[in-house]
Amino acid sequence: MKFFVDTAEIDAIAELNDLGMVDGVTTNPSLIKKSGRDIIEVTKEICDLVEGPVSAEVTATDAATMIAEGRKLVEIAENIAVKVPLTWDGLKACKALSDDGHMVNVTLCFSANQALLAAKAGATFISPFIGRLDDINLDGMDLIADIRNIYDNYGFETQILAASIRSVNHVLESARIGADVMTAPPAVIKSMINHPLTDKGLDAFLKDIAAADIKIL
Ligand code: G3P
Repeated sequence: MKFFVDTAEIDAIAELNDLGMVDGVTTNPSLIKKSGRDIIEVTKEICDLVEGPVSAEVTATDAATMIAEGRKLVEIAENIAVKVPLTWDGLKACKALSDDGHMVNVTLCFSANQALLAAKAGATFISPFIGRLDDINLDGMDLIADIRNIYDNYGFETQILAASIRSVNHVLESARIGADVMTAPPAVIKSMINHPLTDKGLDAFLKDIAAADIKIL
């Protein structure tokens, strides 16, 4: 499973990237706003730092402007994936940009039928939003499983990018189902390491190291 980091915070990306945990980055207008940075500037910095795909989202809602914005975004770096919303105009932009050979991430996916349309329009990534479905008492994981099943039935190559991940269990379940990629905030990725038995076991070892004065160096 590939790990993308869902943030536009350079320091947080760099920290995880140094550990080999970053296969790509996803941003959206809310994350750009939160960073307080200019979209082009911060996206370039992220692309310089990370080798894998970096999703940058268009701001327009009509296909022609989305395509023009996409063409500007891909000039930033070779690893840009243009992010477009799951609307008919977004799908038109997806088709045009993917026909031009660019990576496209179709975002705001909330149904398997939407994911089917995105795959047929040539999407590189489809981003089903798990947490936002959970927020309205639906099961986001059912959507990931449905898309996995449908894409496998027909051999679609569009990668399932599990998004709107809010917890470590979302990561685990996405991995179990076989999502190709997950994108999560740095805090979620970092908390995947937590286990009370690891802490307890290490405490016990440290006590014995001190008691027996065990030294290696
Ligand atoms: O990048 C899109 C996505 O991951 C949003 O997550 O938590 O705002 O629903 P969230």
